Amino acid sequence: MQTVHDAPGLRAVVRGWRSQGLTVGLVPTMGNLHAGHFSLIKLARSRVDRVVASVFVNPTQFGPNEDFDRYPRTLPKDQSGLAEHDCDLLFAPSVEVMYPYGAEHSVCVSVPQLTGVLEGAHRPGHFDGVSTVVCKLFNLVQPDVAVFGSKDYQQLKVIERMTRDLGLPVSIVAGQTRREDDGLAMSSRNQYLSSEERERATQIHATLKQMRQLLAEGHAWQAVEKAALGRLERAGFVPDYAAIRRAGDLAEPQTGEREGLIGLIAARLGSTRLIDNLPLD
Ligand code: PAF
Repeated sequence: MQTVHDAPGLRAVVRGWRSQGLTVGLVPTMGNLHAGHFSLIKLARSRVDRVVASVFVNPTQFGPNEDFDRYPRTLPKDQSGLAEHDCDLLFAPSVEVMYPYGAEHSVCVSVPQLTGVLEGAHRPGHFDGVSTVVCKLFNLVQPDVAVFGSKDYQQLKVIERMTRDLGLPVSIVAGQTRREDDGLAMSSRNQYLSSEERERATQIHATLKQMRQLLAEGHAWQAVEKAALGRLERAGFVPDYAAIRRAGDLAEPQTGEREGLIGLIAARLGSTRLIDNLPLD
């Protein structure tokens, strides 16, 4: 597997593939790769001839008090993991390559509507950073297919909307959330947890399953949200939200609506913020 750090190097490789009529897939990541990421590489591999992974800890999607500085950067390990998982090319750009005029002076791609709620309400500017960097990556790599994990469900919806609204010729493919044996969604941020927090973190998935159960028993979605928030607080979390929304547009459901809903949780455990979701059908 080759690694390139700049746009000309990337374009040269992709142009070579294109000249042979090969299709290209992109798996954008912030590195510190785990089995969840590698399952996205495998999914991309099943759809296209050549797979590019990007590793870039994107400064514009972190708020001023978030974990940009301590976000784990493990490029050599990521490189060997990607090579083992049959990735063809790693694109690992610097901030200067991604933001030639500086991150604070970048053109901004902003997706309205979907970004004002849930993560967007608790992390102002986060989705502008995500959609901007993903749009730049799409322009640089020019993939046919891009694969994103479903753990960041709202991110997936925002990227789908951006891609369609801007007419970008990229098919967005969603990979399933990979979980540890006890249900915790795999995430690079899990390593911030102490061993005691790690045990308690399983309550997020357990709470989502309880939300699904309570909704199936006929409880109103607002009551289910309230019960979930209470359960998380009793387990020692500071929840940002435990929400039931329409899976398609993240709008609040109507009374009695049961089809096509998703449960979404974001909660802090000590200094670690975890998110997860579960389809509620
Ligand atoms: O999900 C992530 O890792 C990031 O938000 C992404 C999509 C790579 C953009 O920086």
